[in-house]
Amino acid sequence: MNNEQLYKTATLLLTESKGILAADQSINTMNKQLEGIGATPDPETRRLYRQLLFTTPGIEKYVTGIILYDATIRNHTDDGTAFVDFLIAKGIVPIIKVDKSTVPLDGFPGEVVTEGLDGLRERLDEYYKMGARAAKWRAVISIGDGLPTHDSIKLNCLLLARYARLCHEAGIVPIVEPEVLYEGAHDIARAAEVTTLTLKTLFAVLQQYRVDLKAVILKTSMVLSGNKNPKQSTPEEVAEATLKVLQDCVPSEVAGVVFLSGGQSPEQATANFNAIGKLEKANGKLPWKLAFSFSRGIEQPVQEAWKGKAENVPAAQKILVEVFERNCKADQGAL
Ligand code: G3H
Repeated sequence: MNNEQLYKTATLLLTESKGILAADQSINTMNKQLEGIGATPDPETRRLYRQLLFTTPGIEKYVTGIILYDATIRNHTDDGTAFVDFLIAKGIVPIIKVDKSTVPLDGFPGEVVTEGLDGLRERLDEYYKMGARAAKWRAVISIGDGLPTHDSIKLNCLLLARYARLCHEAGIVPIVEPEVLYEGAHDIARAAEVTTLTLKTLFAVLQQYRVDLKAVILKTSMVLSGNKNPKQSTPEEVAEATLKVLQDCVPSEVAGVVFLSGGQSPEQATANFNAIGKLEKANGKLPWKLAFSFSRGIEQPVQEAWKGKAENVPAAQKILVEVFERNCKADQGAL
């Protein structure tokens, strides 16, 4: 199979000083976020929220791609233009979340496995026809007493490998996301250990199943102490630990590495990303491009400014641009 087109899409998604917006909250998550700002959790409010994001003037200066949820890729702007067509016209790559979320992993208390392989080939073909050129699958790894087990990591990585192969068959760039959760009382050394095990296992399995890594983007957590640990990691510690783990684990062929915000506050996620950018500058070029791919780390202040009210749309879009500008600067370590 000729993967040239996949390489082109991956390169476009990793354009210098731009990021990827994760606007792929599930219906439940989006509804909770809407309730949190006093807005009505219904389909029309969800559509209006995504419209607010996508129609922000100049958005294409900051993002190369936007991750969409199934209901969103089928949705449209007020004038009936499909969101996907609207984004493509701006040069933004539509990315589709294709996993069907996690379920408890029977026999492994406290661990989960991601579902969504059934019918995935057909779904990918449909998404490709709609205009999607990249996809996302999120696996979740928790740190706790005796957790994670290597067996649950392996199973989640096998599913990521099968997903990645199906994406390539469909002409779609897979974003593989093994999220090591920030929740917990662990220290940064434990986060580094678990992230290392996860990423080493992931790339061993991807290689075993002959996934072309040049057409794969890794979406990863930053390495930092858990949110319940009294000693929170400084941006410098996060940068050092994160780059060390990535350099130890991520093969040089991989197209790029993007970061999730994982429940860090928007300020914290940007400060940590900026420190990573600074350290990258100081240490010299890495084999892969780094970029942000935050959801909460970008959208939280936008939602707070919007509150579900039409009259607040311009103010919320202004905040979105400001947050993007900060993160695009942080990409260069320039804050
Ligand atoms: O799968 C997770 C999202 O794409 C990123 O969300 O930045 O809120 O962790 P987050």
